[in-house]
Amino acid sequence: MTRKYDFLVIGSGLAGISFALKAAPYGKVALLCKTTLDESNTSYAQGGIAAVTYEPDNFEKHIEDTLIAGDGHCNLAAVEKVVKEAPAQIKEMLSWGVDFDKTDEGLFDLHREGGHSEHRILHHKDNTGYEIQQSLIRKIRNNPNIEVYENYFAIEILTQHHLGEVVTQHTPNIECYGAYVLNQETNHIHTFLSKITVMATGGIGNVYATTTNPGIATGDGIAMVHRARGVIQDMEFVQFHPTGLYQPGQRPTYLITEAIRGYGAILRCKDGREFMQKYDERGSLAPRDIVARAIDNEMKIRGHEFVYLDVTHKDPEETKMHFPNIYKKCLELGIDITKDMIPVSPIQHYLCGGIVVDLNGRTSINHLYAAGECSCTGLHGANRLASNSLIEAIVYADAAVKDAVTIVNDIKFNEFVPDWNDDGTKLPEEMVLITQSFREVEQIMNSYVGIVRSNLRLKRAMSRLEILYRETEDLFERSVVSREICELRNVISVAYLIIKHALRRKESRGLHYTIDYPKRMRHEG
Ligand code: FAD
Ligand code: SIN
Repeated sequence: MTRKYDFLVIGSGLAGISFALKAAPYGKVALLCKTTLDESNTSYAQGGIAAVTYEPDNFEKHIEDTLIAGDGHCNLAAVEKVVKEAPAQIKEMLSWGVDFDKTDEGLFDLHREGGHSEHRILHHKDNTGYEIQQSLIRKIRNNPNIEVYENYFAIEILTQHHLGEVVTQHTPNIECYGAYVLNQETNHIHTFLSKITVMATGGIGNVYATTTNPGIATGDGIAMVHRARGVIQDMEFVQFHPTGLYQPGQRPTYLITEAIRGYGAILRCKDGREFMQKYDERGSLAPRDIVARAIDNEMKIRGHEFVYLDVTHKDPEETKMHFPNIYKKCLELGIDITKDMIPVSPIQHYLCGGIVVDLNGRTSINHLYAAGECSCTGLHGANRLASNSLIEAIVYADAAVKDAVTIVNDIKFNEFVPDWNDDGTKLPEEMVLITQSFREVEQIMNSYVGIVRSNLRLKRAMSRLEILYRETEDLFERSVVSREICELRNVISVAYLIIKHALRRKESRGLHYTIDYPKRMRHEG
């Protein structure tokens, strides 16, 4: 069955929901999510959202901190845009009912995280993302112009390719007409025609065996746009958070927020000695890439599987007040963080690259926008400054709406797109063909494409992946479409892009560190 909307939004994290809310006054909006409305990376965000509020902080300092973290690879215009537009977006979130913690004096209680020269992180205790997601969901539910589709899985975006034309990356004016979408309850594939389509599908964490991201993060949007021949960039810059709670076998890995280091927690080896000063004068508060690499190195030298994060020297009551959820979670595991050190190790957390967008959120494909973690705005460069992603998601959703409403009324639905054709397909003989291949991708990425890389490892990863790619495409051609096989195709595409971009970079920069080219090139080439 074909459905028609002015705006088709794929993804219900901060990027997708804020786009939907802002676009709703201008037309009918369909908001898709592959599980439930609240299952997103956004819901899991702990530390908070970065924005300049009070002196002595100012725009120049936030811009400078972002550029330093990005290691010479940021797009200055994107950095200036996000930093300068952040306060207005925070104001709008407050008007939507988002509650950020305040001090007794009624000022925002600002946290500090690695790489920030000032206290500038607005937060709601240590579960900021959950507060944001729930507040926005309440707004969405009351909006008559937004139709929510839970358990609807976007398979492909529609372009001239679906009208029988050959589309390559050199085809001028590729256009997006909407998407094919699987209703996971009925297994029916619907054609969603739209004038404007927005990709807001979030992160890629599940390409790796260990990640802080929930199960929905399989890089679907990036893979769909790649297949549609859109431009993807900077995939080698995969961010590993320094402090995932060490709990083998747990998925996703529980995060210990960086704000706890801003509050005074110290990284120590298993024997209790501090080590960060050896690597960077900013110690435990150096940017993430440096801290994650330092921990990785200490673990490798000593043959240990984790290091400790120590907050026992701080006032116990204050610790419990600032980090109530972390306190509770650790206590359930027998760790009283006011008395015991917390075992932590670096863990896949975020992707800086993705679908390339301009300052208006436009992708290289006409009428297709992208916002949030699946996009590459140039804000983060080679390494994201902590708490800069939530703010990027809402600033770019806002930019995309402002641009899209200027063209939406001039666009016609493309009525010639055929229904999904599943002739000749049948149910996959054995699910193990899919689940085992998925595990193999995760293992390849963890073993060969982690924090420290080499050409040898990357090439080995690529040759293993090529086999999985061929087997999976063959299976996909013969199989009735399911979420599982689509996600497998998507993680293979994303893994391929990460390795391809990593092999292309003949230097170490930001999050991409290779023993073959350990130095940063003076100029990017
Ligand atoms: P998400 O919030 O991930 O939403 C993605 C949506 O897309 C979901 O609704 C999903 O169902 C949908 N989707 C995906 N694929 C499909 C498909 N094929 N079909 C239909 N729907 C689909 N950032 C900060 O700035 N500050 C923090 O403190 C912070 N803490 C974090 C802590 C954790 C544990 C994690 C995992 C991330 C954290 N981040 C933080 C990063 C930040 O949360 C994310 O980058 C951001 O929330 C991404 O928002 P998004 O809207 O782009 O995507
Ligand atoms: C954290 O709370 O440490 C996560 C912050 C982020 O990823 O921006």
